[in-house]
Amino acid sequence: MNTTAPTDCKAWQDLAHHAESWRGVRLRGLFEQDVARSVQLVAEGPGVRYDYSRQRLGAMTLRLLARLAAERGLAEWREALLAGKAVNSTENRPAWHTALRAADAPSEVKETLQRAKRLAARIRQEKRYQRIVNLGTGGSDLGPRLLADALGDGTLDVRFAANVDPKDLERALDGADPARTLFVVVSKTFTTQETMANAQAAKQWLGKSNTPDSFIAITANTQLAANFGAREIFPMWDWVGGRFSVWSAAGFAAMCAIGPDAFQAFLEGAREVDAHFAQAPLEKNVPVLMALVGAWNVNFLGIPTHAVLPYANALRLLPSYLQQLEMESNGKRVDREGRELAYATAPVLFGAEGTVSQHSFHQLLHQGTQHVACDFIELGLEAKLSANCRAQADALAFGTDDATLPPYRQYPGNRPSSMLIFEKFDARVMGRLIALYEHKVFTQGVIWNINSFDQWGVELGKQLASKLLGGS
Ligand code: F6P
Repeated sequence: MNTTAPTDCKAWQDLAHHAESWRGVRLRGLFEQDVARSVQLVAEGPGVRYDYSRQRLGAMTLRLLARLAAERGLAEWREALLAGKAVNSTENRPAWHTALRAADAPSEVKETLQRAKRLAARIRQEKRYQRIVNLGTGGSDLGPRLLADALGDGTLDVRFAANVDPKDLERALDGADPARTLFVVVSKTFTTQETMANAQAAKQWLGKSNTPDSFIAITANTQLAANFGAREIFPMWDWVGGRFSVWSAAGFAAMCAIGPDAFQAFLEGAREVDAHFAQAPLEKNVPVLMALVGAWNVNFLGIPTHAVLPYANALRLLPSYLQQLEMESNGKRVDREGRELAYATAPVLFGAEGTVSQHSFHQLLHQGTQHVACDFIELGLEAKLSANCRAQADALAFGTDDATLPPYRQYPGNRPSSMLIFEKFDARVMGRLIALYEHKVFTQGVIWNINSFDQWGVELGKQLASKLLGGS
């Protein structure tokens, strides 16, 4: 498999040269000269249109980017990922999250999913518990939290505590009855300081109401979970990374919040995107295009920041979820061979729900000195949302063309963005959306020759904190 430096690729060198010719080019002019642009620079995936016509690129750029993907050996890497080969080189294991939603999933995956869905259905029906509290952090928190917030149907009161600050658990337990509260402890390692501290605090809070039924555990370290006192334990597997684990029983709190049928639809939405990623030609492949457009912005146009702007209150937590997915995966400074990189990797990702974001940081997007590449996400929910979403993308791309305006009222425009357009929002769409970003992240890792599946950068802080607390 190709593990050479991307800068050695002919396509990379051609792209660097090609980028020079884009310096003075303006999006306003491009749309005026070519009315077909808004239909040509669009790709269709399962239930989604990816409109990248407002990006600062053209047909030649795309050809070169597709060539880059081919020269990087994307097809081979993709096959290895989907076949469960050990693509996580520093930990010598697969990153096989796609198996969690595959129709022909391994039997242990199917059995675990069935058991988790049955239990979630029972808990929703019996109403024995008034409060479900998920204790986990990072990938053991952000995914189920996003799903519960976006799609929870109100059958159960599902809360989340992720911070080691006791205030977080205190808030999650506000008004809860110990006899009618269930804790879902999610930790792949079952050693994470925040989660273990919160699980111990939960035991204290339960007092006499603590029974082996008070805790459900989801972990790859089932022995530690049993020692802790959980009766019902669901496995996680070492071949699934924390930030890719929402599809497993790690999503249990979400199953309780949205129901097992909706959770199944969530898995199926992702499965559709997996098939599209596996089969669609590179230049029509939505996650591949998202990755290539992102690399073009970062590496060739020098745009170091990326904003994700979902125009839906339901997706207000998506930016936090994607921050971990993209920045923990691709925030890397050495390549697969351990060589220090001479090119940029993951941009800084931030975002917030539109329209709220418009009244906060969009000023900088429109008139700031830094350029920020944006992803607008439209769900066809409501005319006012769609109108604002498109208006922002147009304002960024085209700006104003009136030299009589005072400088502070002028918009330079030429600020790139893409739109992901879905016609509705439900659990299936949520599955599609997350899987699109997962495959985008993987593809960029291949382009940049980095391992997207480890996170060694978080270890030093953990060790130092433990030392400061008097540990070894
Ligand atoms: O510290 C980062 C991290 O390791 C994430 O990658 C992971 O999702 C999170 O901590 C939680 O880890 P665990 O599930 O083992 O508690």
